[in-house]
Amino acid sequence: MEHYILITGASSGMGALCAKHFSISHRLILASENMEMLESVCKECANSEKHILWLCNFATDREYIAESLTNFLKMHDAVVDKYVHFAGITRLLPLKTFSIPNIDLIFNVNFFSILEIIKVLLKKTNAKALNNVVLISAMVSERGNIGNSIYAASKGAINSLVYTLARELAPEIRINALMPGAIDTPMSANLDEAYKEEMRRDTPLGWGTPQDVVDYVDFLFSNKSKWITGQTLFVDGGRSTK
Ligand SMILES: NC(=O)c1ccc[n+]([C@@H]2O[C@H](COP(=O)([O-])OP(=O)(O)OC[C@H]3O[C@@H](n4cnc5c(N)ncnc54)[C@H](OP(=O)(O)O)[C@@H]3O)[C@@H](O)[C@H]2O)c1
Repeated sequence: MEHYILITGASSGMGALCAKHFSISHRLILASENMEMLESVCKECANSEKHILWLCNFATDREYIAESLTNFLKMHDAVVDKYVHFAGITRLLPLKTFSIPNIDLIFNVNFFSILEIIKVLLKKTNAKALNNVVLISAMVSERGNIGNSIYAASKGAINSLVYTLARELAPEIRINALMPGAIDTPMSANLDEAYKEEMRRDTPLGWGTPQDVVDYVDFLFSNKSKWITGQTLFVDGGRSTK
């Protein structure tokens, strides 16, 4: 039985960088809904032959996530000792224009997939291995931002989950969330220039890089943070001070 770090959202942005970072020292399960992109990230990883790719669409296949992951782990004789959830989507729209399918989409990818995955990782076959979970929330879960209500609520749900699960899972498993501010990735590349400029002005240390977040995941996965659990931590260049 081999031990793995599970990285969702590994096909792009921060998740892809995280995969490259941990590939030097760990076996990885790289997850997303795009096999081509996963294969391309895996090729750029160290020890690429050791990593395995889990294809799952968290938006459309919510009710199959648990079954899909259970079968995948069984097929590869794999257990997950660390899990980081980068998978996420956003839509910048006023609440009155949101349809129910759009709300479901965001909550499925950003939040419900996490519940399905953690439930699998806590099954008897994996529970002894699991020791660390990091969920990627967002600064806007704690601060207002026009047009971000559903996205912010989905990330707020992550924060609430972390506070309670930290107590349920201690002392064997630590769980924390990171709340990034503006980070330069494909997700933020689509924002309009005026909005980006406003975010830049609002952030004392300027825009962040994926490395700023990956460094924090590295810290949370390490023994240096062994007394930290149940925390939702800003990684936002000071933007939340406003
Ligand atoms: N960038 C920012 O400024 C910022 C700020 C705060 C928080 N965050 C959060 O940080 C995390 C990473 O964001 P990023 O900026 O690196 O974004 P990104 O480059 O757009 O990456 C998003 C990842 O989520 C995956 N994903 C999207 N829909 C999916 C689905 N239906 N099923 C499975 N996977 C799916 C994507 O996989 P596919 O390529 O297969 O679709 C991709 O790997 C997200 O949770 C985001 O909310 C980002």
